[in-house]
Amino acid sequence: MPRPPARKLPLLRPASLRNLLVSLLAIAFPGMLAGTSAFALPPAAKHLLHLRRQSDSDLEITGLIRNLQPGESSFVRYADLLALPQTRALVTDHPGYPGPPLHISGISFETLSAALGALPQSDLIDALCTDRYRAHFPAPYIAQHHPILVLTVDGQTLAAWARQAHQLDPGPYVVMYARFVPSFKLLAHVDRPQLPDNVVRLNFSTQAATFGAIAPRGSFPPGSPEQIGFAIAKQNCLRCHFQGPFGGTKSGQSWQSLSLWAREQPAYFQAYVSNPQKIDPHAHMEPNPEYDNATLRALTAYFRTFTPSVTPPAREAHSR
Ligand code: HEC
Repeated sequence: MPRPPARKLPLLRPASLRNLLVSLLAIAFPGMLAGTSAFALPPAAKHLLHLRRQSDSDLEITGLIRNLQPGESSFVRYADLLALPQTRALVTDHPGYPGPPLHISGISFETLSAALGALPQSDLIDALCTDRYRAHFPAPYIAQHHPILVLTVDGQTLAAWARQAHQLDPGPYVVMYARFVPSFKLLAHVDRPQLPDNVVRLNFSTQAATFGAIAPRGSFPPGSPEQIGFAIAKQNCLRCHFQGPFGGTKSGQSWQSLSLWAREQPAYFQAYVSNPQKIDPHAHMEPNPEYDNATLRALTAYFRTFTPSVTPPAREAHSR
């Protein structure tokens, strides 16, 4: 029997037979397996991942990726990302760069997921930044807004562009949109673009795991303040606050501590969410001036579910 030609696997680990079969099928019949995945499988499973970082501009990739073990990191090089199909756009509405429009090029999250070999069950990507800010991109949000991992601005690397434009370098990676059109409004919270700067890692996971960890404790019907607060917290608070391994640690404050504020000092909690700098001029948290009382109350109701009520427990039978 002739030996198959040697395949170069930068991951340096023999792929399991099943994975190999899936890759070969995906190569032979692109589209055949599509529809089983939130992100289409790669038409050609080009191996981009390395187990060791080679440069500061490498992007770390973790999570539900073919051939990657749980908890293992891999790295993709800037030059290899440049070689993938690029998306170009003229960005005119970036809140962080109100100057002249930006000519960007980069990779759509859909292309990236396919090229990296994201597993079919992955329906959430999160981007970790150098300051531990963490932006979350659920599959429906990606399908709606088409985020782009930006590789060049005005034809230059991010560092070169930033020097010339007198901006802080947003590299190694930054996420932008050709045009962001909000797709929902919940009370006063309007669908927001996730705009992480200084992205160093993309993690592929599931909405069930990440959002499950911050689902309100107890059962609340759709449309209840607790459920609305949950939906807002997913898009807002989770970027800098954390619950276990989920969410950003930029604030250093956990879901549990926000819950205590919401339960024991609701007026303070609401004032802080609305305008942290009014309470502490040195606060780093972003203000939410558009949040009205109903929105702030929904967030309070939601966060309160994570701590038990402080009202004295009902008398127990055995105490009589
Ligand atoms: C961009 C990052 C960021 C986001 C998004 C964010 N926070 Fe914060 N938050 C912080 C930081 C940083 C602190 C620590 C104190 C400071 O510097 O403001 C903090 C502190 C807090 C505190 C404690 C205040 C105190 O006195 O210690 C509360 C309450 C809070 N955040 C609530 C929220 C809620 C609710 C949301 C979502 C609606 C949210 N935060 C979203 C960054 C953020």
